[in-house]
Parts: sequence; C-alpha cells; structure tokens
Amino acid sequence: MNIGILTSGGDAPGMNAFISNLINLAVKNNQKIFAVKFGFQGLVNNNIIPLSKKDVDNISHLGGSFIKSFRSPEFQTEKGFSKALSNYKKSKIDYLIVLGGDGSLQGSKRLTDNGVKVIFIPTTIDNDLFYTDKSLGFDSAVNCAVGQIDMIKQTMLSLNRIFICEVMGRKCADIANYCALATNANILVADQKDADFNKIITKLKSAIKDGEEAPLIVLRENILNASELARKIQDKLNIETRASILGYVQRGTSPSVYDRIYAMMLAKTTIELINKKNFNLALGVDNDKIISINLEKALTKNNRNSKINL
Ligand code: F6P
Repeated sequence: MNIGILTSGGDAPGMNAFISNLINLAVKNNQKIFAVKFGFQGLVNNNIIPLSKKDVDNISHLGGSFIKSFRSPEFQTEKGFSKALSNYKKSKIDYLIVLGGDGSLQGSKRLTDNGVKVIFIPTTIDNDLFYTDKSLGFDSAVNCAVGQIDMIKQTMLSLNRIFICEVMGRKCADIANYCALATNANILVADQKDADFNKIITKLKSAIKDGEEAPLIVLRENILNASELARKIQDKLNIETRASILGYVQRGTSPSVYDRIYAMMLAKTTIELINKKNFNLALGVDNDKIISINLEKALTKNNRNSKINL
C-alpha cells in the first residue's frame, strides 16, 4: 500500500515528529510512504518522491517541515486543481495524509469530494481549527512565546520599564490568551475591543499603583502597531516603554514535549485508520483523547463552545 503525505500552509512544530513516527510505523506494515513536496503545489507540479526510514532519522525534535510546505493559490484554481488530481491519480498513492490548517482542511475536503482518500492532521500554531481542542504546534508556539516573554521581563524589571510583547495568531487569539495567562500579563490586547488607548492607560496606571515595576502588555498581531503603542504610552506616562515582536521563533521552535507525544499518537491513529481502510477523516484531540471526525463535520464543528473560556 502507498501512502502520500504533504504539509500545507504555515509550518508547525511537530510536523517532522509526525512524519517520522508515521514512517517508522508504516515500514513495519510494509507500507510505502511518498512525500508530496511543497504542499498541494507538489500535487500540481507532480513533485512526489519516496521516503525511507533513513530520511527521518533524528528529525523528530526539529521544528519546520523537512518535506517543505507552501500556501498554494494555484491549487485553488480549477486548472491547478485538475492538474493536481490528474497527477495524484497517476501517482498510485492509495491514501493521502494532509497536515495543515483551515485552508488545508478545505483543500482536503475538495480532494475527498473528487475521490481521493484523505486523512487530515491539524497542524497550525494559531490553533484556529475549532473541531479539535488543540492543533499540533500550538503548545510549542505558546511555550516558546512564554519563554521569550519571561526573559524579556527580566531586563524590563531591571530598568522598571513598561513592555509590550506581540505574539502571532492571525485568525485566532489563543496564543495571546494563553501567553497572557501564563505570564500574568497586566494587559491583554487580543481583539479590537481591547485596543482602546485610554483603557490601556487606565489599566497601566492601576498596575503601577498596585506595585508592578515592569507592566507587561501581551498584544496579538494585527490589532495595533506595537512600536507606535509603545511610543504613545511613553509620551503619556513618561515611563520608558519598549516593544518586542516575537515573530517567527514561535513557528520555528522545536516541538514541546506535549507536541512530540501528540504527534506520535496522531501517527499511530492514522496508521490504524488506514489499516482499517478508513478515510475522509480529520484527526484531533478532545479532552486528551485522540478523535477522528468526518471532514465535512470538521469544517463546521466547534468543540470549544463548552470549554473554559480562557
Ligand atoms: O502559521 C500561522 C501564522 O504564523 C500566523 O500566526 C501568522 O499570521 C502567519 O502564519 C504568517 O504567515 P506567513 O509566514 O505566510 O506570512
């Protein structure tokens, strides 16, 4: 049996761990693994190569995707999609495993609707796939961001400065929410409703009054300009204020312990499902248990409605 694998969209820590675990399990079952390089674009360009156990030696602990990822606008066009489909059919791949975020989930559904046997693995640091409690990579990104904020706090404390740390999260505030909680941030700006300058100043004054020597603002990307905000706060309060954009370290970091184990469990479940000839499924986690749900349902289900609102 031939299994294809591709990583699509923004890479996420844990992708390599998943691929490595998958190959090690597949080899035991005499299954062959093929990498579709550069995500869905690899289907369009017929960039498909076999992978061996040797290829995945010592990569589980590394961030990124060694089979390359890509956001492919061409795959979304009619022409690009039919090229992808025709290359897929020629490839003799029996099952296709897609690692990615919400756009990749939609791409997976389109492939399934056209007869491709897909299993989808949620991988995005943003955690913006709502059918699952967590996407692979989210825990690593948060741990990385919290570690960086802790370090920045030490230098800010030495000089009694106000500081702003901007974290990623284009379509979801989870990284900002978790970081703010884990670092005891004084202010969280995760949405436009938090972005009122006067409210930020009031909260800062109250934090300083309560004895905070280096007040921390956790800011989610694309809400406010971090440097501009720092300058305005400094002008208003006459207290030195600095901004740090944490940026791509959050995405390129090594997978956390949680994500390494999560990747392993996802790979194990994927092989079990394929061995039972199951497909058209999205995997994830619900209350620490691995789940698999229909791709169509995954596109609409919100598993977080009843969970604690962080
Ligand atoms: O992968 C998610 C993410 O890191 C977002 O948090 C961020 O906004 C975006 O990707 C950046 O994407 P790109 O590197 O393609 O600009």
